[in-house]
Amino acid sequence: MKIGVLGTGMVGVALATKLVELGHDVVMGAREASNEKAAAWKAKMRGKAATGTFADAAKHGTLLVNATRGSGSIAALDLAGGNNLNGKVLLDVANPLDFSKGMPPTLTVTNTDSLGEQIQRAFPEVKVVKTLNTVNASLMVMPRSLPQEHSVFLAGNDNLAKKAAAALLKEFGWRDAEIVDVGSIQASRGLEAWLLLWVSLMGALGTPHFNLKLVKAG
Ligand SMILES: NC(=O)c1ccc[n+]([C@@H]2O[C@H](COP(=O)([O-])OP(=O)(O)OC[C@H]3O[C@@H](n4cnc5c(N)ncnc54)[C@H](OP(=O)(O)O)[C@@H]3O)[C@@H](O)[C@H]2O)c1
Repeated sequence: MKIGVLGTGMVGVALATKLVELGHDVVMGAREASNEKAAAWKAKMRGKAATGTFADAAKHGTLLVNATRGSGSIAALDLAGGNNLNGKVLLDVANPLDFSKGMPPTLTVTNTDSLGEQIQRAFPEVKVVKTLNTVNASLMVMPRSLPQEHSVFLAGNDNLAKKAAAALLKEFGWRDAEIVDVGSIQASRGLEAWLLLWVSLMGALGTPHFNLKLVKAG
């Protein structure tokens, strides 16, 4: 599949690398086509992937990933351009974290709104699916690196888009029973707020390699 990954940080690199390993045709996008992190990633992919601007990546992909800093996600998607985004599935893995006052971070949007909803409102013709934002970058693409089953979530308004997202998660190694559909894009509020506890847990456990497991009666 042609996939555009918007983002050159550890998440963009982890997801784009796994997607290339799986045989997908990936373009990684950044604000500048000359982005050094993207160039370094492309060199490691040995001709199996391409890089460009956010617009280049969005134009290329039939499915897109938003792996940009939460505070810059709307700007990044504006740069990608509505014409390159409209009608496509966008996996939104970003979190609206503000580290400007140090640790712990705060959420730039919460309670009655979320970054997932802001993106959906800004780009109503894009099929936004919030997913993978609740786990560390390496766990996103190596779920079997934990010793037990654990949970990952989908939130979005379009059921077919959520099916497409789940299919990709399964390619990463997530199991059907681990993928939990929590409803519309409004459920991003809770998925993003989980980061407040996630950050505390990372400090307490001394590792980002952990996740929660949903256990239900019956
Ligand atoms: N790190 C994790 O394990 C983890 C886990 C779950 C979710 N997340 C979320 O995933 C996202 C990516 O995280 P990350 O750690 O890989 O990288 P990051 O440093 O949070 O984001 C890097 C990307 O954001 C873009 N960006 C930053 N400021 C921007 C602005 N003002 N306008 C437009 N684009 C801007 C950068 O563009 P350039 O390439 O042009 O510099 C770059 O592509 C974040 O939202 C993060 O909260 C991270």
